[in-house]
Amino acid sequence: MLAFEDLGIRFGGNQAVQGVTGRIEPGVITAIIGPNGAGKSTFFNLLSGFYKPTSGRIRFGEQDITGWPTHRVVAQGVARTFQTTTIYKELSVLENALLGHRVRTRAGLWDALLGSGRERRESRASLEAAHAALARVGLEGQAHLPAGSLTQEAQKRVSIALALATGPKVLLLDEPAAGINPEETVNLTRTIRELAASGLTVVLIEHKMSMVMTLADHIMVLHHGQKIAEGSPAEVSRDPAVIEAYLGGHAAPHIRDELRADLVQDAAALQGRGAPHE
Ligand SMILES: Nc1ncnc2c1ncn2[C@@H]1O[C@H](COP(=O)(O)OP(=O)(O)OP(=O)(O)O)[C@@H](O)[C@H]1O
Ligand SMILES: [Mg+2]
Repeated sequence: MLAFEDLGIRFGGNQAVQGVTGRIEPGVITAIIGPNGAGKSTFFNLLSGFYKPTSGRIRFGEQDITGWPTHRVVAQGVARTFQTTTIYKELSVLENALLGHRVRTRAGLWDALLGSGRERRESRASLEAAHAALARVGLEGQAHLPAGSLTQEAQKRVSIALALATGPKVLLLDEPAAGINPEETVNLTRTIRELAASGLTVVLIEHKMSMVMTLADHIMVLHHGQKIAEGSPAEVSRDPAVIEAYLGGHAAPHIRDELRADLVQDAAALQGRGAPHE
């Protein structure tokens, strides 16, 4: 569905993504993992048109979308969220979702100024799409609150709603569980699973391994901008190159301890026992 070939981008002397070939299969949850600075967010920036690749091609269905600007990529059906929650905190939750939808509406400036039939029709459609997007992430009850007044987790949901309101076929989530607690992570995991079950193709970048292992059908591993492994969660987690990427180097024992602490905490929450107390 979304295919990339020899995809790469160079910033000056820094080859942030290099020679990445693969495809995102429809109806499958794909996770992209890899150490900090591996090129994961940059890869999303390439797929979503935020950066133009310096090498390679991207196809979406039959269409070659290489180098397309973001709004055209969005209109084709690829939407994304950002690693840092980018919502309009002073606007209401509903207004945020409405902004998400606007990129897909066709009414031009004149229609807006003259209040034409098309603008009115599209306003109604926008409102319906925005409400539907909020319902999908469980935020109908908070539609009229300022987005900035919500919890960190609910703000993550707002940013997902903003993407959903554009009517995507593929949803790219960049670290949806960053900065939220284990119990919230479990709830968000459930929501993402429901989105996938409704037919959306989900691709997620995530460091929280419990979420990755619970959600992903397929995992792709990036390291130093290159794809070093891909496969099922079981295959990837015993791949020597992956273990080396995560645990290799001088900091190994320290990173291993941190990873283990994360896993224990997340696993406890996943089993519904709540997070262990400090
Ligand atoms: N606009 C840019 N200009 C210059 N360098 C960039 C730019 N965007 C990304 N990079 C570089 O690309 C590399 C990969 O960064 P990226 O943010 O994609 O990593 P990541 O895998 O998402 O890491 P993290 O897990 O910490 O979010 C880094 O060396 C980064 O400095
Ligand atoms: Mg990143």
